[in-house]
Amino acid sequence: MIGRLNHVAIAVRDLNAAVATYRNALGAKVTEATPQPEHGVTVVFVELPNTKIEFLEPLGENSPIAKFLERNPDGGIHHVCYEVDDILAARDQLKAQGARVLGDGNPKIGAHGKPVLFLHPKDFLGTLTELEQV
Ligand code: CO
Repeated sequence: MIGRLNHVAIAVRDLNAAVATYRNALGAKVTEATPQPEHGVTVVFVELPNTKIEFLEPLGENSPIAKFLERNPDGGIHHVCYEVDDILAARDQLKAQGARVLGDGNPKIGAHGKPVLFLHPKDFLGTLTELEQV
């Protein structure tokens, strides 16, 4: 069902510090910060040859990553995202196996303008897992 690793998202408290670390210490190619108020985060993409890393910094009140950063004050891996061809078919197959889909169970338009769903971390090795239809 799953295809390529689309991205790994890392929640950070300080986007500028995160960018400096990846740019200076790791020599990574890093994009400009993009506020995404509808998702409650500001995002920077680290472009790697085979995938992306996304830094997520909380934006505004009720950011979906605020609680995660309370529990992980140094930041940390927030979710992984895998590509699927057909997100509704993937969802139905997963639900039939008892996996929990977060929210109302319907795909939302994610940070890349494509339909996404999130799967409950307790069903996937303690890791919040995003599916993106590409
Ligand atoms: Co994501």
